[in-house]
Amino acid sequence: MSILITNIKELLQVRESNVTIVKGSDMKYLPKLENAYLYIEHDTIVEFGNMEELSGIEAEKIIDASGSTVLPTWCDSHTHIVYAGDRTQEFVDRINGLSYEDIAKRGGGILNSAEKLQATSEDELYKQAAKRLNEVINLGTGAIEIKSGYGLTVEAELKMLRVINRLKEDFPVKIKSTLLAAHAIPKAYKNNKKAFIDLVVDKMIPAAAEKHLADYIDVFCEKGYFDLEDTRRVLEAGAKHRLIPKIHVNQFNAFGGVALGVAHNALSVDHLEELTNDDIKALQGSNTIPVALPACSYFLSIPYTPARQLIDAGLPLALATDYNPGSTPSGNMNFVVSTACIKMKITPEEAINAATINGAYAMGISNIYGSICKGKKANIIITKPIPNYHYLMYAFGDHHIRDVIINGQII
Ligand code: NIG
Ligand code: FE
Repeated sequence: MSILITNIKELLQVRESNVTIVKGSDMKYLPKLENAYLYIEHDTIVEFGNMEELSGIEAEKIIDASGSTVLPTWCDSHTHIVYAGDRTQEFVDRINGLSYEDIAKRGGGILNSAEKLQATSEDELYKQAAKRLNEVINLGTGAIEIKSGYGLTVEAELKMLRVINRLKEDFPVKIKSTLLAAHAIPKAYKNNKKAFIDLVVDKMIPAAAEKHLADYIDVFCEKGYFDLEDTRRVLEAGAKHRLIPKIHVNQFNAFGGVALGVAHNALSVDHLEELTNDDIKALQGSNTIPVALPACSYFLSIPYTPARQLIDAGLPLALATDYNPGSTPSGNMNFVVSTACIKMKITPEEAINAATINGAYAMGISNIYGSICKGKKANIIITKPIPNYHYLMYAFGDHHIRDVIINGQII
């Protein structure tokens, strides 16, 4: 199928050469074309330019995008969308005064989700996750990373990874999968964390790797969860099986996890609500991208990642949802970019770079996703008529999307 999109008011994130990451002050720059066309063949972007230059292209489908903004689909590099049920009771408990940590300490939180997941069949789990995936695709997400981490046994972690794999097969969006084996200490290992790390290192990682079920390895490096030594052991075991680290770090406490991640060539370090100058120094000159999750800060009422400080230090930044039942029950990237502008004081240009090309970098796919570039995948958002792209962030909470195209197919 070929598609020609005409009369595009603003075509965003157009790159003549295949840029794969944008850092520091370059993030302020969002290249765009006005009064543009975009031509797609099969699943690929073939041509784009000004309407005045359009001639000789015949397409099977023509979409008139008068008044609309067109941009690459969102690249959501951090989610946990395979989970069972919900945690609405904990939501109400927090409103009534308990903290996220209080809830975890009394056996709720991640352990609550693990209990639910272990009792849910693989088919039911797939059904629930597929529904969430469908919803976020309609909200403009075209590439997504999904983690395990609510299994906490070898069997249940593999069940989660198989569900992710089935989603990879059944959905047109690009999916990357992450083994988050060390997400919380299961009740059975409460007094023997080392034995749980042994299980992760000796059983979970080899099993997931042998079946080619994971692209990345993740750890929740945090007080009360896994310390630097645990994290180091897990990342080293992952490396033996070619699993690249993408880690949860500095959500509540900063104690050197960022430098550890960088030292193990982490592709990304995610959360960073707490950040020190040493963390920034560790990231400078590395290939590790910091990932901010503003919808998590919003939902838990915790600090926002100091995105300004990261970008002003010359670093790249990616934005992701963290979609999960405990800290962020939302997979809406439109809300994420808007909240990043409003609460983290980054500009719409920086936010769009962070949520497209840099999100793709944080999944290792920015050579084929995340910008409007000839030869890249045709993953496209067409907005409803809007005054200009700043309006996407400004009129927060509205549904601005008219059409989503994934791999050259209109959804
Ligand atoms: O990224 N912080 C660790 N993991 C998830 C939340 C897990 C949960 O509460 O279920 C996060 O916020
Ligand atoms: Fe997370």
